[in-house]
Amino acid sequence: MKKLMIAAALPLVLGGAALAQAPARTVWDGVFTAEQATQGKAVFDSKCAICHGTELNGAEMAPALSGGAFIVNWSGSPVAELATRIRTTMPANDPDSMSRQDVALTIAYILSFNQFPAGATPLPADDAALSQIAIVADKPAK
Ligand code: HEC
Repeated sequence: MKKLMIAAALPLVLGGAALAQAPARTVWDGVFTAEQATQGKAVFDSKCAICHGTELNGAEMAPALSGGAFIVNWSGSPVAELATRIRTTMPANDPDSMSRQDVALTIAYILSFNQFPAGATPLPADDAALSQIAIVADKPAK
């Protein structure tokens, strides 16, 4: 029993260690491709827009996924956190239904919509890689 609990706790400890390190990149570094953003728009329009709006401006209960408040709210968090939030709670009427790949595409679209630059490297789908990319509201000085 004790052994089992340790085994169960280990991924949490490792996950925490990965997050404790400063992420290597930020959303200003071109962390998704333009193609992903285009594909993500299709996913967003079919699964998210009904509540969050085609302009990502929110409606009724659903908050905006664009603009200052949204980005400031997530600023300082790794993209992995946003991915987990979406994957486990969204679409609100059918949570846990999306593949990691579709979540990554959707995030590429949301980042693109919020004026973060596309780049040459695709946004990864796995949490370990996503935990190395930080959401940062203001462009870091080089
Ligand atoms: C049925 C309506 C509905 C659908 C469809 C839906 N959402 Fe949501 N979403 C909500 C509501 C309501 C909230 C706020 C309450 C909550 O967090 O559950 C929310 C919250 C969020 C948040 C947190 C925003 C913040 O600033 O903290 C994100 C991110 C999000 N949704 C992304 C998505 C994505 C991506 C999709 C499509 C895959 C999606 N949602 C589909 C209703 C919806």
